[in-house]
Amino acid sequence: MRKLAAGNWKMNGSLAALAEVNDLIAAHPAPACEMLLCPPATLISAMAAIVRGSALLVGAQDCHTHSAGAHTGDISALMLAEAGATHVIVGHSERRTDHGETDAQVAAKAQAAQAAGLVAIVCLGETEAQRDAGTTLAVIGAQLDASVPEASTAANLVIAYEPVWAIGTGRTPTVAQIAEVHGFLRQRLAGRIGAEAAGVRLLYGGSVKPSNAAEIFAIADVDGALVGGASLKAADFGPIVAALSAA
Ligand code: PGA
Repeated sequence: MRKLAAGNWKMNGSLAALAEVNDLIAAHPAPACEMLLCPPATLISAMAAIVRGSALLVGAQDCHTHSAGAHTGDISALMLAEAGATHVIVGHSERRTDHGETDAQVAAKAQAAQAAGLVAIVCLGETEAQRDAGTTLAVIGAQLDASVPEASTAANLVIAYEPVWAIGTGRTPTVAQIAEVHGFLRQRLAGRIGAEAAGVRLLYGGSVKPSNAAEIFAIADVDGALVGGASLKAADFGPIVAALSAA
């Protein structure tokens, strides 16, 4: 399986920040892993024009469940594909919190993305209170069952495990904790989509940075990362891409 280093710019970036993309492509013209950046929707077209012919892929951070219609302010997966996106993140914890997105909505978004020919990166993860209460696997299992479309394949689904308490905090789970969740996810996914589960990339996300990337990528069933803050600068994201390529 080809591993995936994915960056999520969140609500950051500007036309000027696209210089980072040129730097990243120049430093990593042919990485052994897939390399993806998900900028704000306003930058997708411009970034897609820059990356054409390079190893860098462009994705989006959200999509609507419908392909078109009266949904002011929303963007469909078809529109993202036309703009040059090949992937879309769905169900990020910030969207689940800020916009009250439910597992059912996340599943519908993932399905819309896949129908538009995009790879859906479905995010899930426990809160700190849930981990403290010992319910991490139960929470994640329920999220997976309800957020992942049943007809998903290894080609159109990526799962990102992102403990909410590790996002943007500088804190990461232990190696044993990540290994436990990723092993569990692989098994649970097989229960939902069968043999395809073996080829689905399982990303870890939450405070991944150059200094901890190699340790995380050495964990079984970690097939890449979803990186927030450290994806904004080529000088940070590049070493993470290199660590994954070497894993
Ligand atoms: P972070 O964000 O790398 O800044 O912790 C990760 C994410 O939210 O995907």
